Amino acid sequence: MLESLGVSKPRILVTSKHPGDAIDALSNQVALDVHCSFEPMNHHELCEHLKECDGVICVLADHITEYVMSLCPRLKMIANVAVGYDNIDIEAATKYGILVTNTPGVLDETTADLAFGLLLACARRIAEGDRFIRQDKWNSWRCDLMLGVDVFGKTLGIVGYGRIGQAMARRAQGFAMQVLYCRSQPPSSSELETTSHPRHVSLDELLESSDFISIHCPLNKHTHHLIGKRELSLVKPESILINTSRGAVVDETALVEALKKGRLRGVALDVFEQEPCVPVELKTMDGVVLTPHIGSASVETRSAMARLAVDALMCAFAGQMPPHVVNQETWRSFAERSRGCLITNQ
Ligand code: GLV
Repeated sequence: MLESLGVSKPRILVTSKHPGDAIDALSNQVALDVHCSFEPMNHHELCEHLKECDGVICVLADHITEYVMSLCPRLKMIANVAVGYDNIDIEAATKYGILVTNTPGVLDETTADLAFGLLLACARRIAEGDRFIRQDKWNSWRCDLMLGVDVFGKTLGIVGYGRIGQAMARRAQGFAMQVLYCRSQPPSSSELETTSHPRHVSLDELLESSDFISIHCPLNKHTHHLIGKRELSLVKPESILINTSRGAVVDETALVEALKKGRLRGVALDVFEQEPCVPVELKTMDGVVLTPHIGSASVETRSAMARLAVDALMCAFAGQMPPHVVNQETWRSFAERSRGCLITNQ
């Protein structure tokens, strides 16, 4: 009946498997094309499949550039299973009338858990100690073995004080840390009225005063290489830098140089400029803890992220603006373009 009115189910590409059963909810509602592997699709495969689709549920490893969009005139919606969306050319998506959504809110605590875990691992040399034992280097207890630095009572500087930065601050309070933060928006009056803690400062003051610096801002044209040579020259030589946001917020070359010169005590990185490539110097230096972009990687959180992306897609193709739209100005054009392909029995 609907077909006779020229309405058909949207065709949706899911570029990766996901933990949990969120994707199953789509199967009766849309025509599904699922890539049945956790391994990302290669660029050619992605373009070939995407050409035939009205929407896509994609992950950070899928780079949806203007070129990809230009090959896919049928594409109307991109539901990114991530809070960051630097893998998508948002300006181009807006130009082509493609709605983009992300998955904020469900991964804050999980990402802050990892950031705090990295902070502890670096300060107390946990990963190094693990390697030491596995390499059979431990032959006696010694007073000077694997001396690290204390975490409790120290100063933590949080760069980017959104949901994840604030979750990090809550963890720091349990360790009696002083918390400083900086972010692009000034603090609200209620934030200024609350106790002296956490305290809003400039980026330079934060870098000069913190024992630990944890980065939680999104990557965009204002934050690309926000932490570069000049900024690294301001930090205390005993400080530890943690990055769980995006690699390119830190100038990796400048970071390697700073570590070589002993400008910092250590770094703990979950994200890198050219993932999955990690500079060889980082892999060989002591005082460096590395993880493979796993900030949100818990079963519960990754399942919730997939669920949020599925809900966004079902909502949009049923004619309602979903909650987490990155380019809201595209909504009218999306609604216009998706008239002939709708989910009608949500
Ligand atoms: C993970 O890095 C995300 O942006 O969700």
